Order: sequence, then C-alpha cells, then structure tokens
Amino acid sequence: MADVIRVVVTGAAGQIAYSLLYQIAKGDVFGHNQKLALHLLDIPPMMGVLQGVVMELQDCALPLLQEVIPTDSVDMAFKDVDAAFLVGAMPRREGMERKDLLAANVKIFKDQGEALDKYAKKSVKVLVVGNPANTNALVCSHYAPSIPKENFTAMTRLDQNRAQYQVAAKLGVGVIDVRNVIIWGNHSATQVPDVANASYTKNGESKRALPDLDNNWVNNEFVPLVQKRGAAVIAARKLSSAMSAAKAACDHMRDWWQGTQSGSFVSMAVISDGSYGAPKGVIFSFPVTTSGGQWTIVQGLTVGDQVRSKLELTAKELLEERDEAMAVCEGKL
Ligand code: NAI
Repeated sequence: MADVIRVVVTGAAGQIAYSLLYQIAKGDVFGHNQKLALHLLDIPPMMGVLQGVVMELQDCALPLLQEVIPTDSVDMAFKDVDAAFLVGAMPRREGMERKDLLAANVKIFKDQGEALDKYAKKSVKVLVVGNPANTNALVCSHYAPSIPKENFTAMTRLDQNRAQYQVAAKLGVGVIDVRNVIIWGNHSATQVPDVANASYTKNGESKRALPDLDNNWVNNEFVPLVQKRGAAVIAARKLSSAMSAAKAACDHMRDWWQGTQSGSFVSMAVISDGSYGAPKGVIFSFPVTTSGGQWTIVQGLTVGDQVRSKLELTAKELLEERDEAMAVCEGKL
C-alpha cells in the first residue's frame, strides 16, 4: 500500500459531503490501495453534526481510512493536505441567483486560499465545488500565491455528467458509450454544453454524435435542459443537487489524480491560457486530458459559430464575477 495521503473536505457536515465522504474513504477517488486521512472542516455551530458524521465513518469500518480529524480551524484542516475538496459555502436556495451568492461566498475562499498557502503541501490539488465555483477557485488561487495556479480547479463535471446522460438517452445507448461531450465556461446558466466533438458506440460501431442528434433538439431542448438542471433539481427537491454533485466531485478528482482514458477527454474548469478565445487568467471550463496528475487543454477541436458566440457570454460573466469578487475581497464592495 502507498503512504497515507491527507484529504480535506470543507462543508463536511453538509449534504454534498454526506455522499462524498463515503466514496472518498472507500477508495473510489484515490485508488483502492491508497490509505488516507480525512480532515473535515465546518463552522463552529456544525461541530455536533460533524461528530455524527465522524461516528458514521467509524461505523463504516473502512479499511483504507487511517484517521479522521473533525475541526472548525482552517489551520488544522489544511495542514499538509495532498488534496482539497472545497465544498463548504452557502448553497443556492430556490429563487436565488448566483450573483447573490457571490458576495457571501468569496470571503470564505479568500480565507481558505490564505490557509492553503500557509499550511497545505505545495503540490495540493484543489477542487472547488462551492458556488460560484469558478470564481471561488480564482479567489482561492489568488490568495495562495505559493501554490501553482494549475493546482486550482472548479467543478463542471456535474454539468458534463448531466449532458452525457441526456445524449445517451437520446441516442438509446448507455452513458458509458458516450464520449467527449464538452462543457465550456462558467458553472452557471451561461455554461456552454457542446456535442460537436462527441462520439458514441452503438452495436460495436463508433460514430459521431452529430448528425444523429438533430440541431433542433441540441439547441432547443438539450442545451437549456443542461443549463437549468440545477434549478430544476432545487425546484423538485427544495435542496440543491447533492448525490450527483458528490459523484461528479469524485469523478473530477479521480480523473485528475489517476488520468483520463486514451481517446477521451473530460471537462474541468482550470486557469485559462487564452485557448479557444477564452479570457486569460479566469477559471474557465475546457475539455482536458490528464496524465501524471497534470491536466492539458485539448487543442484543435471544432468550435461552431453558435458555440463561439455563447462562449463570449460565459466569458463576459466570468470577467464580471472576477471583478466583483476582487472588489469584495479588497473591501471595495
Ligand atoms: P449544505 O448547506 O448542505 O452544506 C454546506 C456546508 O458548508 C454546511 O455544513 C456549512 O456549515 C458549511 N460551511 C459554511 N461556511 C463554511 C466555511 N467557511 N468553512 C467550512 N464550512 C462551511 O450545502 P451543499 O448542498 O453541501 O452545497 C455546498 C455548495 O456546493 C454550495 O455552494 C452549492 O451551491 C454548491 N454546489 C456546487 C455544484 C457544482 O456543480 N459546482 C453542484 C451542487 C452544489
């Protein structure tokens, strides 16, 4: 067995963490022979609830889980961590727009960036789930200047998984048979789900998803459904997506840690180098491949005119969020 790794989950008493912790602790993310210690961060009023989560982790009798540290101290939570799932934030309630969340949440990510900078390993891999995820990841990275910017990512994998399911259902195949659906941009209603480079396997034959998916379905049903799926879940459950968000967080970190499969790419929001005309320096969701713990933006893909104009909108939103977040952090708002 490899040495013990340290993994922090913030918002550890919350609903996403409740699904996430079991999957991490049983080896689904870092491998089934990787021992780990879990650091669980939440706020002081949640320490009683968190104790219940710790009891349940103990009662799962998980062979890989060596240690559990519940805490309300960021210093202790981030000490020597190899991987960080930053889930803790105020969730979006019914009728609440993402912008309302921004001011409340970016300060949390400023503090956590500073703590990561001081206490985490410089190689730490950070996945931000708490919304607005892309901008929170940017803020966190900004306040952790000693950690490479490539180590900060935000989650659009839930959007990818939602899109992949819809494409598979439409084509009458399993989700496993669909590859390379892309989510571009922000994890918000301006995100750009894109099937132009997707392919699928049916009856042993590999085909491009287009033109088998007609344009009318793609533009008028698929894209809005994926963009608004989070709001639809909230309307139905009166709570935001949790089981599916936890699964997506595991998929994201597993692929980053263990590598993507040959011929497949996944969507991750990463620091933009200006590829595909995205603004440089924001956390933008791109198709990436991963190997040896590093991600690489897939280059040379077809981007249709319709997708390109939508990329401008999501880019504009990310630039506005960045400016607003930095103003909040600097006390100007
Ligand atoms: P929840 O309300 O059930 O849990 C959040 C937890 O975070 C609570 O236990 C709360 O006490 C804790 N928390 C608040 N401030 C904290 C701080 N400063 N440090 C540590 N913990 C803190 O919420 P849930 O459903 O688990 O969602 C968490 C976040 O994930 C929300 O921001 C939500 O919008 C976001 N989300 C993101 C998705 C994505 O695809 N990127 C999908 C679904 C949810």
